Amino acid sequence: MRSDWTDLPPEVLGAVKAHTGPIHSVEPAPAGNHADIAATVHAAAGRLFVKAARKTGPDTDGPEVRSLRWEAAINPHVTEYAPRLHWTVEAGGWLVLAFERVQARHADYTPGSADLDALAKVIDGLQAHPLPPVLGHKRVARRWEALAEVSALDGDSLLHADLNPANVLLGGGTVYVVDWTFAGRGAAFLEMALLVPWLLKAGHTPAEAERWASRFPAWTAADPDTVDLFARVFAEKWQANIVTNTESWALEHAAAAQRWAMYRRDRR
Ligand SMILES: Nc1ncnc2c1ncn2[C@@H]1O[C@H](COP(=O)(O)OP(=O)(O)OP(=O)(O)O)[C@@H](O)[C@H]1O
Ligand SMILES: [Mg+2]
Repeated sequence: MRSDWTDLPPEVLGAVKAHTGPIHSVEPAPAGNHADIAATVHAAAGRLFVKAARKTGPDTDGPEVRSLRWEAAINPHVTEYAPRLHWTVEAGGWLVLAFERVQARHADYTPGSADLDALAKVIDGLQAHPLPPVLGHKRVARRWEALAEVSALDGDSLLHADLNPANVLLGGGTVYVVDWTFAGRGAAFLEMALLVPWLLKAGHTPAEAERWASRFPAWTAADPDTVDLFARVFAEKWQANIVTNTESWALEHAAAAQRWAMYRRDRR
């Protein structure tokens, strides 16, 4: 749940203004539900994109702050894609990250969209990118290990692991990738596999989504049984998620995951 900028305690605002000078206006980000605050800040020193989260206790970060710590740790290793992190502030029980504010729109994943070619270039680059040492122990497959034996999903590739269209921004001929919260290491094909539900939600059929994924060598090289395993545990996890999260985006995501898992099961 997003908080409002005005929820920031004076101590935090003071620490932020020490960097920015007087703040003229604040525009909340268009979408999202992770960081407590995500907003464009117009200040004397220029525009910034600020993400902030409240710690859950004096000695406990809580999930939102933990996510922001990951984003801050990864940022210097992926500057080809991520808007640069200018500074961070920790004060009054909050963690604040201030990024370069880019002028860009969300990607369009509908069938035939040219943005899918831009996305493919980003994925090619990511797949060739060395794994930043900071991600050495952050296994993306951990998310599904309570459901099955998922060691086949492990690997040494750098995965952004959340390339949804609101995290891929296009502007001025550049593609930016934001929201590196879920980044980690894993089998290379997982980057595309995690995209499949987003492609379905954008209007692709499962066969079309997989045809798109097959432009990547890591997809064609993946053992079909491993892809089946992933589609199954991913759908199962989303079925479990919607027991507690009944927001429409979650229901849609769970349905897309289920549709893909059924498609994989039925084609065998
Ligand atoms: N550096 C940036 N410059 C301009 N806009 C940005 C920047 N970073 C993010 N945005 C915009 O803000 C939105 C939310 O940012 P981000 O995805 O990083 O936040 P989040 O809190 O992790 O939430 P969620 O993934 O739930 O949207 C993005 O979809 C994008 O529209
Ligand atoms: Mg996001």
